[in-house]
Amino acid sequence: MKWIRISLPEPVPSKALIKLEVTGKKICLGHYAGKWMAIADRCTHNGASLSQGRLTAFGEVVCPLHGYRFRLMDGRCSEACEDAEVFPIKEENGEIFIAV
Ligand code: FES
Repeated sequence: MKWIRISLPEPVPSKALIKLEVTGKKICLGHYAGKWMAIADRCTHNGASLSQGRLTAFGEVVCPLHGYRFRLMDGRCSEACEDAEVFPIKEENGEIFIAV
């Protein structure tokens, strides 16, 4: 596992989902419960970009296409659908790193 430092847009929008591409992987980054979390930016139902959806007050990413929900902390899907891949995040000295 390799940690890669990522840069966030300034200022970071609150409750926004951020689309990133890290070593060719599309990532949906969100901030919930005081922490950054990352899941694959691809809905397992039909491939929509989850970063184009919205983040609920319960830490779920709602797909913009059909509304399936994915828990940001572990990628668990609310429907009978494959869970989203999750990526570890760590914060050190004000910088954010992702493992892909
Ligand atoms: S493509 Fe995401 S719910 Fe259908």
